Amino acid sequence: MTVLRSQLDVSSETYASHRTAQLEVLAQLDEQLELVVAGGGERYTQRHRERGKLPVRERLELLLDPDSPFLELSALAAWGTGFTVGASVLTGIGVVCGVECMVVGHDPTVRGGAMNPYSLRKALRALEIARVNRLPVVNLVESGGADLPTQADLFVPAGRIFHELTELSSLGIPTVAIVFGNSTAGGAYVPGMCDYAVLVDRRAKVFLGGPPLVKMATGEESDDESLGGAEMHSRVSGLSDYFAVDEHDAIRLGRQIISRINWRKLGPPPSAAPEPPRYDPEEILGIIPPDPKVPFDPREVLARTVDGSDFDEYKPLYGTSLVTGWASIHGYPVGVLANHRGVLFSEEAKKASEFILLANQTDTPLVFLQNTTGYMVGARYEQGGIIKDGAKMINAVTNSTVPHLTITMASSFGAGNYGMSGRGYDPRLLFAWPGAKLAVMGAAQLAGVMSIVGRASAESQGKPFDEEADRRRTAAIEAQIEAESHAFHITARLYDDGIVDPRDTRTVLGMSLSAVHSTTVAGRRGFGVFRM
Ligand code: COA
Repeated sequence: MTVLRSQLDVSSETYASHRTAQLEVLAQLDEQLELVVAGGGERYTQRHRERGKLPVRERLELLLDPDSPFLELSALAAWGTGFTVGASVLTGIGVVCGVECMVVGHDPTVRGGAMNPYSLRKALRALEIARVNRLPVVNLVESGGADLPTQADLFVPAGRIFHELTELSSLGIPTVAIVFGNSTAGGAYVPGMCDYAVLVDRRAKVFLGGPPLVKMATGEESDDESLGGAEMHSRVSGLSDYFAVDEHDAIRLGRQIISRINWRKLGPPPSAAPEPPRYDPEEILGIIPPDPKVPFDPREVLARTVDGSDFDEYKPLYGTSLVTGWASIHGYPVGVLANHRGVLFSEEAKKASEFILLANQTDTPLVFLQNTTGYMVGARYEQGGIIKDGAKMINAVTNSTVPHLTITMASSFGAGNYGMSGRGYDPRLLFAWPGAKLAVMGAAQLAGVMSIVGRASAESQGKPFDEEADRRRTAAIEAQIEAESHAFHITARLYDDGIVDPRDTRTVLGMSLSAVHSTTVAGRRGFGVFRM
């Protein structure tokens, strides 16, 4: 039998205290998500409605199939910066007429939907996800273009949006622009580069330069309608393929377009009627210790994540601080690599490398559950070749071509982040739990290293070492690194695709697996499996 048996005591004090701590972190997350949903706030939302326009989330709801789920991405983009949390754009994967699509929607209530450097990174990441997973893209357009005060950080990389849209088209991945309002200057190229454009009557404004700019440039007198209205673009310029009488009509037309693209997923379908886990996902909250230094058994998480809690463990007696094995999630077969006791030794690195090669031989997607403090240091381990073994694992992760999905459960430090398919290793989607911490090393360790380096430097120069100043500096560095390791700080900078409630792990992985199966699922072949 390969069904996991949980050892979790749900009546214990430890369980209760873990759960309480997690609920507190989740309350902080909810607070931020409420701000995201509020967008530009009451005043701008009311003004938007008074203009007879729908907020972006209502546009999205009308676009998606009724009662279908939406996997929102990078919801906390720009958190902790001077920009509105969420970064004035909404992105995510949803189902339109039965087709999983990437949706990119401007929020016109936040500074007129203008794109700041975080909005740009968020939009570009969404388009990249669409490209690598072969997801049609629907743009809900209404934006003031570049956030002008930050144009220096924006203008050059923003050109990539048109590049991505064009590349999607060249790969046969359909792109649709539904234009609800302003889409001027650079924004005009969104309907310009998309395969299909729908423009809303008397609302869409699609021109390279508005009336004041035209007047300045050529002296010509003009107005919004003649320069870029839906009627003109539908009857005269031909930029618009579909003339919509209002917003509802535009969304109806967008759905109609998707219903005609004759879309077929290229990956194998999931098995029918997969079994739910035998243990309640709700209990995951009681597994996670609030102190990320305290390890926990990822099998307890898997027992609440994989189909039927059925986990066929690979090499369970070897390299035991990394758990590897086969399972399925919502009917999709997966190989799982999950850290157990944090540190990766040579055995774990070799076991991971072999396992990744095996998954590639059988075209099986990989799920990485990160909770690692990195590869082991020390003379014994260096002499044992930890660098070479870590390099094997990083090589295997780099060259693996099956889809990778990564969840940062708790710690993600050092090269362990790389070996466990962190952002730099192109996982198709990467999420974090809200209590996760990510950095080159732990805050205390990093501050301690800096103190040792400072002391050695003073000694080598024959200078006295100010112990009091060192204590202050060490405390300041530790606080800085602690803040920068926080999950909100990481997700704000687009180093993952969003923070997820640990209880939703199975659902999020299921939706992600479904999305990645939009394209072919094929492992890398050629070398066979190296036995290490
Ligand atoms: N960059 C930075 N801030 C912008 C902005 C931009 N491109 N466009 C609008 N904003 C700000 C406004 O200053 C205003 O801020 P405030 O409320 O604190 O005063 C807020 O966003 C809302 O703008 P407002 O003009 O009141 O909204 P609107 O819905 O009536 O009009 C636009 C929206 C986008 C049509 C209009 O603001 C506009 O034309 N913006 C400039 C567009 C442009 O030239 N972009 C450059 C293209 S590359």
